[in-house]
Amino acid sequence: MSALIEVENLRVRFPGDHGPTDVVRGISFSLGRERLGIVGESGSGKSMTGRALMGLVPAPGRAIADRMVFDGIDLARLDERGFRRLRGARLSMVLQDPKFSLNPVIRIGEQIGEALAFHSRASRRERRRRVLDVLAAVRIDDPERVYRLFPHEVSGGMGQRVMIAMMVVLEPDVMIADEPTSALDVSVRAQVLEIMDDLVRRRGMGLVLISHDLEMVARWCDRVLVMYDGRIVEECAAGRLAEATHPYTKGLLASTPHLDDARELLPVLDRGALGASR
Ligand SMILES: Nc1ncnc2c1ncn2[C@@H]1O[C@H](COP(=O)(O)OP(=O)(O)O)[C@@H](O)[C@H]1O
Ligand SMILES: [Mg+2]
Repeated sequence: MSALIEVENLRVRFPGDHGPTDVVRGISFSLGRERLGIVGESGSGKSMTGRALMGLVPAPGRAIADRMVFDGIDLARLDERGFRRLRGARLSMVLQDPKFSLNPVIRIGEQIGEALAFHSRASRRERRRRVLDVLAAVRIDDPERVYRLFPHEVSGGMGQRVMIAMMVVLEPDVMIADEPTSALDVSVRAQVLEIMDDLVRRRGMGLVLISHDLEMVARWCDRVLVMYDGRIVEECAAGRLAEATHPYTKGLLASTPHLDDARELLPVLDRGALGASR
């Protein structure tokens, strides 16, 4: 499998009163045309890993890596202008708080169309057609109507679909979805994941699915990285998670009821046993 992205020794560093702190502490992984899950508890560095790939680590933080390459492009040395050319068009991310990524005063169709205007020479008419197509692709029943709505006029589930539409409209090679369904009801959640899954398969993209939910990641991904405290502590095929060896992963598995139906009580993670220290 040829890699779309290769990362070696990535750190995300923030300055602090007592010197710099690394919130991502030297991780290495690769992504092919596959669905890669990144799972771990809140604060383990998942979102910062996704942001580092997109050049979106918030200042004054910064990403440092021995190697971070996307299709021959050295992301570790790319400037903001270079990232702007890649973002949306070739690398795309749904941020963890999608509400903040939609502009409240611009109609949904026009917002999706803006990405097209920035990255392609499509005519106005052509852009409109492509936006309507992509809204239909994320299974919005009445694309013409939704095109004209403002972000506050759509439900959470619809908003999430709009975000996915925005992420895929330029047919990027890699999509990074950060907790894409955490704000959704369980019933809508599976639908949204199915839409993404379908797009990834049909268009041969690479997907990074970031979640704190191990069960979800195990179900929808091919391969899983488990992060703990800024590091990757386990990497395995989704189907082999049951054989995971790291105590943190075992703890996650043990507290995930559907992956281990034999258990009736949910054991609490024994953090003391993990031996993690900074
Ligand atoms: N702007 C920031 N400045 C300093 N530290 C931050 C900032 N944003 C996040 N962090 C810290 O980085 C760590 C990793 O965050 P994040 O990648 O968002 O975790 P996750 O997505 O796994 O929940 C957390 O400990 C968080 O407190
Ligand atoms: Mg996060």
